[in-house]
Amino acid sequence: MADIIGDIEVFDHSSTETNAFQVTENQNTGKPRKLYIESYGCQMNFSDSEIVASILQKSGFDTTSNIDDADLIFLNTCSIREKAEQTVRNRLTQINAIKKKKPEMMVGVLGCMAERLKTQLLEEEKIVDLVAGPDAYRDLPNLILQVDEGDKAVNTFLSREETYADISPVRLNSNGVTAFISIMRGCDNMCSFCVVPFTRGRERSRDPHSIVAEAKDLFDRGFREVTLLGQNVDSYKWSEQENNKSRLEKNGIDKVVNFANLLEMVALVNPDLRVRFSTSHPKDITDDVLFTMANYENICKYIHLPVQSGNSRILELMNRGYSREWYLNKVTRIREVLGEDCGLSSDMITGFCTETEEEHIDTLTLMDAVKYDFAYMFHYSERPGTLAAKKFMDDIPLEVKKRRLDEIIKKQTGHALYRNQFDIGKIYKVLIEGVSRRSDDFLQGRNSQNKVVIFPKENKTKGMYVNILIERCTGATLFGKIVD
Ligand code: SAH
Ligand code: SF4
Ligand code: F3S
Repeated sequence: MADIIGDIEVFDHSSTETNAFQVTENQNTGKPRKLYIESYGCQMNFSDSEIVASILQKSGFDTTSNIDDADLIFLNTCSIREKAEQTVRNRLTQINAIKKKKPEMMVGVLGCMAERLKTQLLEEEKIVDLVAGPDAYRDLPNLILQVDEGDKAVNTFLSREETYADISPVRLNSNGVTAFISIMRGCDNMCSFCVVPFTRGRERSRDPHSIVAEAKDLFDRGFREVTLLGQNVDSYKWSEQENNKSRLEKNGIDKVVNFANLLEMVALVNPDLRVRFSTSHPKDITDDVLFTMANYENICKYIHLPVQSGNSRILELMNRGYSREWYLNKVTRIREVLGEDCGLSSDMITGFCTETEEEHIDTLTLMDAVKYDFAYMFHYSERPGTLAAKKFMDDIPLEVKKRRLDEIIKKQTGHALYRNQFDIGKIYKVLIEGVSRRSDDFLQGRNSQNKVVIFPKENKTKGMYVNILIERCTGATLFGKIVD
């Protein structure tokens, strides 16, 4: 899952690792104990941390942004690449130094690494008191009690039903304008390189009524943009028959809600509430979704459509369920329905098992054909237990993987600038997210296509929509002035 945040001039090519963590804000509601939580990995984890804060608020914890004040430290972790896990292990070593001075402080590991390693984590990292997987957060108060009583505590049970639908997340580090709403959990896709199906379990969709209620509540509290989150939002599916028999009996109709229906339901909350979503899967995104996007001005014209590789044999080994041609046809269809202007971004992996030089060049030529606005690029990192780890040799030398990665990053840097240059002279509606990081005299926001736009402040403030004439750009940012 990917997001570009802020006025970064340098092209950010590894969303899930470099946006390493986010610290909670200070809450002061007089609770007896303090929780400090750091999130690693994708937006899903950041969103889960907000659920964790909500659950713990009810059992006597305020959040703090100062690690030294904490009675409880949680690391919400990611396993997507080896480097992501190494970052967390290094952080645990640093935290060990704090714990030496304050032995009563509790340390917990949550999220994907907790799920992958389970009790092994307690053996390998002595500092850890508590291990909880992504579906075990309701059990946290109980796990904390066990640690209070002097035991270590573990719950890595994966559920087929848990969606935390009824828990209203405590918005952490929020700008008060944009928020994420989790619409589903888990993934059933089994891409051969990917650890997510093992760490997050089976795919399940959240009750659409609770999603719409959360969007309404956010709008009423001043938020103006929601991003609907899932590993594969296009396979969102909810049926009253399967999930809520009592409501079915009351209403008498069993309407199946698919992703296009859900998008429309959220778009109808208010025309001033922007709707984004991530991640779309090229094999599953439908014409219905594209038409719904076209029908509603407030559904943003931006699709994150990870390709992973531009070669059909590699895509087959990756178990992605589409070929190079299918993918390129999808891009053509998107641009037919939504116009050339529609923002498109991707994730790509270099040096997957057996990838030849010619196959790598196929990724470069696919990039030339599509010209993405943004991309998140990685070299392949073998993950234990995945289909690829079981079936294929990780046979591409690291220096070759890295050289291929450098080549795609270089190409993407050129394409991002190329795409941004097309925007010069155009007027875009921008939702203001706050002041620019560089200067208080400038504001920043994003246009519908998800590009960061910076402009002189005048008398505007965050949460407002403004029309901006784009005057210049870099590869990562558009600059302009207010024209209304
Ligand atoms: N559900 C999303 C992706 C989630 S993981 C999707 O289907 O696209 C985010 C990205 O991390 C992936 O798109 C992929 O490009 C990358 N990734 C996943 N596993 C990886 C691995 N083993 N090595 C390198 N990159 C990986
Ligand atoms: Fe991983 Fe594939 Fe699922 Fe994305 S769709 S989370 S890459 S298995
Ligand atoms: Fe997300 Fe990392 Fe888990 S990308 S789903 S936190 S493995």
